[in-house]
Amino acid sequence: MSNQPILVVEHLETHFPIRRGLMRRPVGAVRAVDGVSFTVAKGRTLGIVGESGCGKTTVGRSILRLVEPTGGRIVFAGHDVRQTHGAALRGLRRRMQIVFQDPYGSLNPRMTVRAILEEGLVIHRLGDAAARLARMRQALEHTGMAAAALDRYPHEFSGGQRQRIAIARALVLEPEVIVLDEPISALDVSIQAQVLNLLV
Ligand SMILES: Nc1ncnc2c1ncn2[C@@H]1O[C@H](COP(=O)(O)OP(=O)(O)O)[C@@H](O)[C@H]1O
Ligand SMILES: [Mg+2]
Repeated sequence: MSNQPILVVEHLETHFPIRRGLMRRPVGAVRAVDGVSFTVAKGRTLGIVGESGCGKTTVGRSILRLVEPTGGRIVFAGHDVRQTHGAALRGLRRRMQIVFQDPYGSLNPRMTVRAILEEGLVIHRLGDAAARLARMRQALEHTGMAAAALDRYPHEFSGGQRQRIAIARALVLEPEVIVLDEPISALDVSIQAQVLNLLV
């Protein structure tokens, strides 16, 4: 079972239109992702390496359909992600989470950590209030944060702690795939190893 693929990406293409002039007519396309294929086995890690601007972020966002792919096939746990819509797509989105590069931009400053962690649980109608609280405490514990963090705001935390909160937000939904978009590149060098160890 362990080498069964959880994610298959075939000939993925994501192009962005280049618009010019008053009418914003498309005059071409940025071929941000142009024929990318890979497979991820259950429980395994795949690293994607490349120079800045080569399309790594766009690959990650396309898999979750945060940007709409132009072509190719994405199969997650046997589901064709590009052919999935509405409630079924929302269901798949719980099972695939993303941690963004910048923990300063990815956490809403007006929401407490409790609200940030609970949002996905509420959207996906997971558990009652007590069960949600238990899952949030466990996710914080897994990321090395105290439960007291729940009633605080993102600005009260350092960059490394914020990234732990972002990772807890992903873990609380118990996803089968996590897309990590350079999750430590915005952190101090001294904190990078800690967050990497946490992810491992
Ligand atoms: N929303 C967008 N609209 C237009 N072009 C984009 C958009 N997002 C990314 N790009 C372009 O797509 C290319 C790949 O970007 P990106 O996926 O962010 O690369 P990486 O993460 O590897 O640095 C770049 O040329 C970038 O400018
Ligand atoms: Mg990037």
